[in-house]
Amino acid sequence: MPSPSPIKPSPVKLYDFHPPVEDFRSAVLRGLSLPQKMLSPQFLYDKRGSELFDAICQLPEYYLTRTEMDILRANAKDIAAALGDRSLVELGSGSSQKIRILLDAAPQVATYVGVDISRQHLQEACAALMADFDGLDAIAVCADYTQPLPIESIPELRNRPTIGFFPGSSIGNLEPAEAIAFLKTVAVLGDLIVGVDLKKSPIILEPAYDDTQGISAAFALNVLVRINRELGANFDLSQFEYRAHYNEAKGRIEMAIASLCDQTVHLGDTEIGFKAGETLRTECSYKYTVDEFQLLAMEAGFQPVQVWIDRHQLFSLHHLKQM
Ligand code: AVJ
Repeated sequence: MPSPSPIKPSPVKLYDFHPPVEDFRSAVLRGLSLPQKMLSPQFLYDKRGSELFDAICQLPEYYLTRTEMDILRANAKDIAAALGDRSLVELGSGSSQKIRILLDAAPQVATYVGVDISRQHLQEACAALMADFDGLDAIAVCADYTQPLPIESIPELRNRPTIGFFPGSSIGNLEPAEAIAFLKTVAVLGDLIVGVDLKKSPIILEPAYDDTQGISAAFALNVLVRINRELGANFDLSQFEYRAHYNEAKGRIEMAIASLCDQTVHLGDTEIGFKAGETLRTECSYKYTVDEFQLLAMEAGFQPVQVWIDRHQLFSLHHLKQM
């Protein structure tokens, strides 16, 4: 009788460039000492935050994920042709649902590299991809993808043609000038496929960022829970509330946590004062017309070659070529 096969160790190769905890502490202290208090959106994605974000993607009000998946499905052949047999590098891969649509249509792709700040989430997603796609090598890179990717330290990427996949409109988290700088940085990957949320009525936009079930609120407020736990702070969550507002002039959703009273919060031995109504900005989410985004891409040295859009014109997926 054959003996049961031993449990295989995870076959996922991991390259870990996760910034140390001290960076989190100093970034939080710096952000909380600004006149407009703010935190980098990357800190939203601890384990709980990643779960809450996945829940946001399922919300009826949050049309972005659903619509981008529809665009990917409707144009999978076209997009697969654009990929060719290059290694596919996904930036901010999360649970990697979207990549499955592309990999289904592009069996010629042999290497997938997921780059994400949430290490455990990423490793699980890569392991699942290797299990589900025969012959695919899935590599996990734990890193802040807004920083230059240490491509030379990843043998699977060195001297090989790659294409970047940056779905979800995560580029909307960046200021337009930062988005240009970011695109210049990721130009080392070659061509790019980028998802970008389109400008539209606040009647559609605002509920997408402030849903009736309060998941968007829980997602933002979770960063305070994380600061309490990891940095020994004492934010009282009942004294704060979440707000999301579309700033039409700037073309962006502004997400913030507002203080409900005058209060002092302790973070280690630092005291942080909040006035009643004062806000702590957690994210901005920029929206672009197709023309606006193509101009921005050109400023970063890319040539827009194709754009795919859903029939309700909610969301866009751009193929940008290296000039
Ligand atoms: C991950 C930046 C694309 O802006 O739509 C969603 C983040 N925050 N709801 C977005 C987010 C609250 C999301 N991105």
